[in-house]
Amino acid sequence: MKDNTAVISEINGLLGSNTRRAYVRSFGCQLNVSDGEKIQGLLKKMGYSFTENEHEADLIILNTCAVRENAEDRVYGIVGSMKKLKELKPSLIIGIAGCMTAQSHVAEKIKKSYPQVDFVMGTSAISALPDLLLETLKGSGFSADITEYDDFSETVEQVRGSSFKASVPVMFGCNNFCTYCIVPYVRGRERSRRPEDIISEVRQLVSEGYKEIMLLGQNVNSYGKDLGGDISFPQLLRELNKIEGDFWIRFMSSHPKDASRELIDAIFDCEKVAKHLHLPVQSGSSEVLARMNRRYTIEDYLGIVDYIRSRDPDFSLTTDLIVGFPDETDEDFRATLSLVKNVRYDNLYSFIYSKRSGTRAAEMPDSTSEEEKGRRMRELLEVQREVSTEHYKRFIGRTMRVLVDDVSKKKEGWLTGKSSEFIIVEFEGADSLIGQFVDVEITGAMNWAVTGKITERDSSK
Ligand code: SAM
Ligand code: SF4
Ligand code: F3S
Repeated sequence: MKDNTAVISEINGLLGSNTRRAYVRSFGCQLNVSDGEKIQGLLKKMGYSFTENEHEADLIILNTCAVRENAEDRVYGIVGSMKKLKELKPSLIIGIAGCMTAQSHVAEKIKKSYPQVDFVMGTSAISALPDLLLETLKGSGFSADITEYDDFSETVEQVRGSSFKASVPVMFGCNNFCTYCIVPYVRGRERSRRPEDIISEVRQLVSEGYKEIMLLGQNVNSYGKDLGGDISFPQLLRELNKIEGDFWIRFMSSHPKDASRELIDAIFDCEKVAKHLHLPVQSGSSEVLARMNRRYTIEDYLGIVDYIRSRDPDFSLTTDLIVGFPDETDEDFRATLSLVKNVRYDNLYSFIYSKRSGTRAAEMPDSTSEEEKGRRMRELLEVQREVSTEHYKRFIGRTMRVLVDDVSKKKEGWLTGKSSEFIIVEFEGADSLIGQFVDVEITGAMNWAVTGKITERDSSK
């Protein structure tokens, strides 16, 4: 962790009474969004306010994602379009942060082909932001810092995007090296935060009125392994559950290779832990899983699902799936379809395989055409639609506890929220309920949400 007090006061001196409006946009996963909130926290210290409109900004920071090619292409498109903005306002400063810049070939490409960019900073170099800004303000030309500093999590005030939902990283990095995935290369090895820091952050958030705490890590199930083995993730959940207050705890992601019975037991035992598990399977074929280096078979995976469902047959599960991994056969894909029907997921996040240079899968032969991959994806989505339409009917007649997120985009006068089971619930209600818990009696089911009525008890809140 860099001490940047002196640099920040130099920046404040240089900028004087100049306007300081920043546009910070994060792409990718919630861990990256959480980094974006830290970037904003640092900028706030330097006197910046924030705008959602890049045309008003004096500083633009794009906090990028590298997980799939289309995520990167989107950023290149946006950076390209910023050339015009810079021409209109030459004092505009543009910085690129996040996972894309942690790949040296990308940092090179940005330097060479996008002269409108002033600096790039790596995923572990957030605390270098004041130095990079200072260099730019002094007119030193393009600068880059992709050093791995400390993770910077314990000291900076975050500018949180929501007043009732907060993300709390419990660990950083990933050790798993799934063969398709760039994350271990751009985020480094696993580092767990100290439990006392996590507990005090959650306690503080709850005292500020936050209702949902999302614990984040690429594989929360390996939390604590680098801390000498004194605490595991299920133990951390039990500790957090003791914090007083009306809130719930979610977490993601949970790698099936280390999803233990202790984890499942903790979910059932802790009343504040939401009753939902995101358990990314990636493929229904054990052969494909082996080539992905996932280190579990479909039988292992179904063993965890069986244990969860033996405790609650209706328990809500969601997953991630990759379609078209190199040389995925039609038979492999059929195995994925039958897994989806068999497990009855409430939701799927499915992606067509994207080749990431530097990963092991990028070297694997692949004879399946892009057309065929697209066809498989459409078939998978169709099967999931049927599964969820049928499966969501189990909620009809139940009363679900819902954290109200926003007004519904589908119907005037309606609200939208998520239940403990991570199901979207839509119902009629006043805007003042946003950010509150309500009880909703479910009367209808669609393939993407359930609908219902606020019960008497909660409509009086
Ligand atoms: N750590 C999480 C886990 O292991 O479940 C996943 C994090 S990753 C950021 C989110 C999802 O992106 C993965 O679960 C996977 O389905 C997908 N993904 C990762 N690399 C991909 C690639 N090269 N092509 C397509 N999808 C990919
Ligand atoms: Fe990527 Fe696998 Fe790590 Fe998840 S566990 S971030 S998929 S390497
Ligand atoms: Fe997340 Fe994308 Fe990086 S998914 S860790 S922002 S590559």
